[in-house]
Parts: sequence; structure tokens; C-alpha cells
Amino acid sequence: MTAETGFEIFLTAPPGLEAALAGEARAAGFAVQGESPGGVTVAGGWAEVWRANLVLRGAGRVLLRIGAFRALHLAQLDKRARKFSWADFLRKDKSVRVEATCRASRIYHHRAAAQRVERALREELGAPVEAGAELRVLVRIEDDLCTLSLDTSGVPLHRRGHKQAVGKAPLRETLAALFLRDCGFDGRAPVVDPMCGSGTFVIEAAEIAAGLAPGRARRFAFEELAGFDAAAWERMKQAHAQPSVTEGFFGYGSDRDAGAVTAAAANAERAGVARLTRFERLAVSDARAPEGPPGLVMVNPPYGGRIGNKKLLYALYGALGKTLLEGFSGWRVGLVTSEPGLARATGLPFAAPGPVVAHGGLKMRLYRAGPLS
Ligand SMILES: C[S@@+](CC[C@H](N)C(=O)[O-])C[C@H]1O[C@@H](n2cnc3c(N)ncnc32)[C@H](O)[C@@H]1O
Repeated sequence: MTAETGFEIFLTAPPGLEAALAGEARAAGFAVQGESPGGVTVAGGWAEVWRANLVLRGAGRVLLRIGAFRALHLAQLDKRARKFSWADFLRKDKSVRVEATCRASRIYHHRAAAQRVERALREELGAPVEAGAELRVLVRIEDDLCTLSLDTSGVPLHRRGHKQAVGKAPLRETLAALFLRDCGFDGRAPVVDPMCGSGTFVIEAAEIAAGLAPGRARRFAFEELAGFDAAAWERMKQAHAQPSVTEGFFGYGSDRDAGAVTAAAANAERAGVARLTRFERLAVSDARAPEGPPGLVMVNPPYGGRIGNKKLLYALYGALGKTLLEGFSGWRVGLVTSEPGLARATGLPFAAPGPVVAHGGLKMRLYRAGPLS
């Protein structure tokens, strides 16, 4: 594995959305090698590592596999970690931290494994090992095979870098983007979220419509790695900074909570999509379809167990369904919730739900309905 022959790059996915992320990666021109629980493997060199961080909306992190060797006991791990060519990837003036996991292996003590690698980094490379370091070396020992990876993202990728104001139960941007994708959103139809909270769906949709790269406004851990070419990275960002012409899209968000509406508008402003979006304070039963051709209603109502009272929630989902059935003829619907009963309470003609997706301790699913009659 070298930069020339291609690395193995692992894109982490929200569990349940591996296939959706693989689809996004393929569509963005990445060489997808396969899907496994928790992510998607693609092949490529440094350019793909950077580009994956910059353009993929659904990936949680971009991990770079830098090496693998067998390690049957700690002394062997120590020896092989010391011999590893860390300087090809890491700089001795940048601090790192090590995280290890062990599974079905003779080395079963993850802290002891991490310590061996930390010692190799300190003594062979000369890099400071610090708990709060931005750069993470990941050590995974499985079936006695030790795999070394670097987290090239640093701060997780759902932090786009421009969202400061969050509501009560914000949806992660990566999830929102993959759910939009699963609803077939291609940036050319209007999107309405009548319970928009901090505006995640509407802002993600607007960015997709405008062709804005999700990573355009943030830093990445790979900027700290050995051989990082800042000029080439700048050129790549510039090449992706040509917003496309938005046709047919406009994003409408509403929420009954005034604070949420203010936060969503501020987030859209910071993301540079204020001209493509409008947020207003409105109870869900007062939401109306905007003038013009139909599009997609994308909504993530409150769920039980997190905010709100379950009985009231049934009534709320009922009100949402009634509003959409009466006023959104021709619109498609994507609804994200943790309770099948709540989805049913809408009375909307949902197809079989999507896979179970873990989010904040909840098991959520996407419920889709075709154009409403
Ligand atoms: C789970 S949160 C949505 C989070 C949002 N997707 C985000 O990423 O920030 C549900 C939202 O529904 C709103 N809401 C609850 N009852 C409502 C109602 N009757 N009408 C409109 N909005 C309502 C809440 O204020 C809250 O912002």
C-alpha cells in the first residue's frame, strides 16, 4: 500500500446507511471496493483521501489504512510497531494519540496494545503522544492481525464548520444528507421541512442544490500529516468551489419554536445558502405547500424517549399527516422517526421502511411515500 499504488481508504458510515454511502461514493467517482458493517472501503491515493473529506456528505470520517502485520503477543507488536515507517505518514513535530481495539486475538488488552504503539511513536519517530492530540492512530487487532489506520478527518465530518446554532434534537448532517439521497433528492426540486429545528435537512438540500462541498469551510487532520501539500490542497478546494446553477430548488423550513427558526436562518446564512432558503415560525398544521411544482417534504418530528410526551406525539404525527394529505398533493415525503407506531399515526401511504439507523441511542428509520394523491 503506497500513495502511488493506492491506499485502502475506509469511509465510516452511520450504521444502517453503508449502502447509501457506497452509492454516494460511487456517484462521486470513488473506486468502491466493498461495504462492511460501519463503513465503505474505497481505493485511492492522497488525492482521494482529501477529496473524500471535502466532498462526501454521508461519511462520518475518512480513515486511511497505513499498514498491517501479524502480532501474536505484545513483544511482537512492540517490535513491529517500532519497525513501522511512521515517518512516511506522521511528523515528529505534531502530537498524536493512539486508540486500540482487540477482537478474537491473543492480544486482548487494548490499553497494553495502545501503549506499545505509543512507545514506538515516541521513541522511534520522536512524536509527542498526547491525549488531546488532533491526530489519531487507530490500532485494530482482529484474529491476531494488527491493522494501523490514521483518522484523516479529525473533527467528525458531520461538523461542516458553519453550523453553530443547534436545536433540541438536531439530526447529524451526514444522516440528513444520506436520507435525502435515499429519497432520490438530486437538488432540482423544492424541499419543505415543517419541523425544521436547526434547519439540517433544508440546509443540506440547499448545499447539494448549489453544488457546495460540505468540507469547504473546515480543517482536517490530514493537514498535519507528513508530506501534506498545502498548495495542491488549495487547488483542489478551488476546483470544487465553482457552485453549480440551482434550477428548481428552494428550501422552506418552518418550526413552531421561534428560537429554532432564528437558529436555522443563522445557520443557513453562515453556510452561504440564505438566498436559497426561507425559514418561518409556523405550527405544523399551518404549513402549506409553496407555489410551483411539487417536491419533497423531508421531516424529522420529535420522537418519544428523547423529547416530548408519547401520547401527544401521536396527535402531532396525526396532524402532520393530515396537513400533508390535504395540502401537499403531488409531493413525495421522507419521514425519519424511531417509532413505527408514530409513522403509522400519520396515515401517510408509506412503503416498507428503510434500514434501522443508530443515532444518539435511538434506532431510527426512514419512511418514504411516493407522490401524494
Ligand atoms: C427532532 S426536532 C427536528 C430536528 C431537526 N431535524 C434538526 O436537525 O435540527 C423536531 C422539531 O419539531 C418541532 N415541533 C414540535 N412540534 C411542532 C409543531 N406542532 N409544529 C411545528 N414544529 C413542531 C420542534 O420545535 C423541533 O424543532
